[in-house]
Amino acid sequence: MQMFRDEVIKLLAAVVPVDKDELAGDLENPPAPEMGDIAFPCFKLAKIWRKAPAAIAAELKNKLPASKLLSRIEAKGPYLNFYCDRSLLARTTVESILAQREAYGRLDLGQGKTVVIDFSAPNIAKPFGVGHLRSTVIGNSLYRLYETLGYKCVGINHLGDWGTQFGKLIAAYLRWGVAEKMSADPLQHLYELYVRFHREAEQNPALDDEARAWFKKLEDGDPEATRLWQYFREVSLTDFKRIYKILGVEFDSYQGESFYNDMLDETVSLVEEMGLALASDGALVVDLSAEGMPPCLLRKQDGATLYATRDLCAAIYRYNTYKFDKMLYVVGADQALHFRQLFAVLKKMGYPWADRCFHVPFGLIRFQEGKMSTRQGTLVFLEDVLNRATELAARIIQEKNPGLANKEEVARQVGIGAVIFGDLSNDRVKDIEFDWDKVLDFSGETAPYVQYAHARICSILRKADSRPQEYDASLLTGDEEQAVINLLARFSDHIVRAAETCKPSVIARYVLDVAAAFNTFYHRCPVLQAPPDISKARLALIDAVRQVLVNGLWLLGIAAPEEM
Ligand code: ARG
Repeated sequence: MQMFRDEVIKLLAAVVPVDKDELAGDLENPPAPEMGDIAFPCFKLAKIWRKAPAAIAAELKNKLPASKLLSRIEAKGPYLNFYCDRSLLARTTVESILAQREAYGRLDLGQGKTVVIDFSAPNIAKPFGVGHLRSTVIGNSLYRLYETLGYKCVGINHLGDWGTQFGKLIAAYLRWGVAEKMSADPLQHLYELYVRFHREAEQNPALDDEARAWFKKLEDGDPEATRLWQYFREVSLTDFKRIYKILGVEFDSYQGESFYNDMLDETVSLVEEMGLALASDGALVVDLSAEGMPPCLLRKQDGATLYATRDLCAAIYRYNTYKFDKMLYVVGADQALHFRQLFAVLKKMGYPWADRCFHVPFGLIRFQEGKMSTRQGTLVFLEDVLNRATELAARIIQEKNPGLANKEEVARQVGIGAVIFGDLSNDRVKDIEFDWDKVLDFSGETAPYVQYAHARICSILRKADSRPQEYDASLLTGDEEQAVINLLARFSDHIVRAAETCKPSVIARYVLDVAAAFNTFYHRCPVLQAPPDISKARLALIDAVRQVLVNGLWLLGIAAPEEM
């Protein structure tokens, strides 16, 4: 598409008083194919020339010379609509996809720039809950999107591995811990201990004192407390990494909250030296009333530091380490105030990069199982959800395709793909009501629907036994073919938009559209049965569709099985 846009810009630049860079930003994608492939709105010129935009559009249409790249130019109301030459668009699009393959869609916008992405960040010593699914899959997709645009990405798992809860856990573990249970399923056991602690502490407040004492010891570096905490952290990481492997998610760093322990005093002193800290009832805060926010608490009366202190420290450390151009915090919307406060404090401290830190919020996800709370022991475990999805997918595959060779593997790819897509296809700021029937519906707006289109293409290509080396894609000028090609040609536009808005849902909608356009095309246009030249061109086209579906699903962190 870029080649055609450049041509339109060149033509326009010769007749309007706007420079090329600005024109590039003014071009729009028409909402429907009848309105052309590229649109130029004339409102801006109306101000300059003091004429009605529609009159300007009509005038420009007559002024612009013909171009080999464009089949026609039309004025429609205030818009000038450009139509790409169909043969040329078909040929350049299909050929570049098949030449670039996995690399199709890549751009170098981010060359030399670094994005830090803080995502997933579960709290240790309990099983990975479904509450951290959203951050994990959204963050993973953002990582892939930015990487595809040429940025260097740093994925950080800011583990919740410090805090008063570890005092409680140590106390509970020493009282009620059972070695066999620890070796069988350590996180499940730690979780039970934590829940038991809260239950018993209601009757027996002395337990809370015990927990406080243990946390104090932990903060003071007591060897016994440290050893236990390290043990909890280790078993947690082992388990989390197993889940990340199932999800296909990786991190560049696991520096969590505890990593900043040694740097906290220094950071707090810095804030004090800058005259930004205020003593308030023995605690230390940064006043943010001018910013219209409650104060940011950096140290409690008892000297303990907080989540915010660690985040302040982490932001400074990360800037010094990575010199990022952008830092994204993929964290639930319920922490919006925390991040606004954090960024405000960084700004008060005079860091110019404070404006390059962004909170990427998202809504809640609810499963039929109901609301969850760690303390009451009603946490929904992610692994249970993934297993359930895999089971349900296996059942569907058993029905539809009992002879499938690697059924288990495919069931996993379909089931997990369905869960990830069920999350990412929604606008991230909305809450999600998770419905098993919906996410696994092969004909709904789901991963299996997209995966199925992909598998179907693989099957056609297998039947064609050899993929044509020679083909003439300029024959692909029919409406259904062009509808597909038009989408394929705009893949990188969608990647840019998804990254800029931090919305993987843009890509999820896009792959649904591509799959749907392919289905319509395939329904109406024979591929293997068409005359040889057309058949070859159409095989090349569906191979290109296949590739774009693979690349698009990859951006979401979803596999594309060749058979299902
Ligand atoms: N562990 C936190 C939680 O579960 C999320 C941490 C997000 N990252 C950060 N830098 N604060 O709520």
